[in-house]
Amino acid sequence: MQLAERMSRIGTESAFDVLVRARALEAQGKDIIHLEIGEPDFPTPQNIIDAGKKALDEGWTHYGPSQGLPELREAIAEYISNTRGIQVSAANVCVVPGGKPIIFFPMMALLQEGDEVIYPNPGFPIYESMIKVCGATPVPVPLVEERGFSFDLNVFRKSLNSRTKMVVLNSPQNPTGGTIPAEDIKAIADELRNRDVVILSDEIYSRIVYGNDKPVSISTMPGMLEKTIILDGFSKTYAMTGWRMGYGVMPPFLVDPVNKLMVNSNSCTASFTQRAGIEALRGPQDDVTKMVAEFQRRRDAFCAGLNSIPGWKCAIPGGAFYAFANVKGTGRSSKEIADSLLNDAGVACLNGAGFGQYGEGYVRFSYANSYENLMRAVERIKAWAK
Ligand SMILES: Cc1ncc(COP(=O)(O)O)c(C=O)c1O
Repeated sequence: MQLAERMSRIGTESAFDVLVRARALEAQGKDIIHLEIGEPDFPTPQNIIDAGKKALDEGWTHYGPSQGLPELREAIAEYISNTRGIQVSAANVCVVPGGKPIIFFPMMALLQEGDEVIYPNPGFPIYESMIKVCGATPVPVPLVEERGFSFDLNVFRKSLNSRTKMVVLNSPQNPTGGTIPAEDIKAIADELRNRDVVILSDEIYSRIVYGNDKPVSISTMPGMLEKTIILDGFSKTYAMTGWRMGYGVMPPFLVDPVNKLMVNSNSCTASFTQRAGIEALRGPQDDVTKMVAEFQRRRDAFCAGLNSIPGWKCAIPGGAFYAFANVKGTGRSSKEIADSLLNDAGVACLNGAGFGQYGEGYVRFSYANSYENLMRAVERIKAWAK
């Protein structure tokens, strides 16, 4: 049977492939330190689990509105308004199973052949995958290490033209952990204000930031709210990757198309998880604070460890839980290094080129693993590098 032509354009996430290879090595008795998968290693906070269990007992086990439960949408609107300093209402919110559908659905709704989409490279691989599946042309803009992995603004400006339909921003960023400084957000907004474009602002790591410089959402810039889709969710902030719950906050003209795509694909997000989502947003936030403090402790020690290896250079990331180490000084390709670290040193990490061509020369480590394992990983990499 022949697959549809569009399947030749679909990509994937290498993290899941590396996980499979790491598990196969473990099945042979090898000890692997997992620094490949991007999910918090903390349990979901107990108050959220309790709310989910209570919801099951109360019978939240049926279909709900495809846009999401009104009370959760209210809680999300309040949360986004307060954290970003903007004014959005429950009518702008679409609740979906995870953050990913807020890449898939708006792209399905907006893109077609002839459209161009600007997106970060290296970047979350699903952007390019979905742009291509939708028949549009991906226009990668390199992230520059010396600029804290923010866009190369000159390339960004040159990439804009009358075919540009969408611009994807991601801050804090996967895979680099970089955040886009406020002055760059302002410069990007200035370029886009008078254009007929939609901005997909992936803010899924917005709460996992270190230091006092909170990332600025482009939606706060004058004239931008009406053209911005904010992607956020519960996976990373509340260690809820397996609950599958995320949301988009979007201009009114996109709400109905996204809803229709929900009706056609999922009907609705699981009802009891949405009840737990209300508790996540409105309940105590201490567990999030503790998790972020622990990530920061690991980041500092792990990056210092990587920086002590000859030929390695790791910028200190401002957010998320990824270290994107520059290995150009070793003279070996990122793929060679990532493969050999897995097979010979027992450290699973990702080839930076899996995030786009400008990721060559880097490897990504997720420091969502215990402090002890991270220190063991540094020792293994050091011994391997000798
Ligand atoms: C940048 C970015 N956006 C979106 C997502 C999707 O998150 P979810 O698991 O909620 O679908 C991820 C997950 O790794 C991510 O790194």
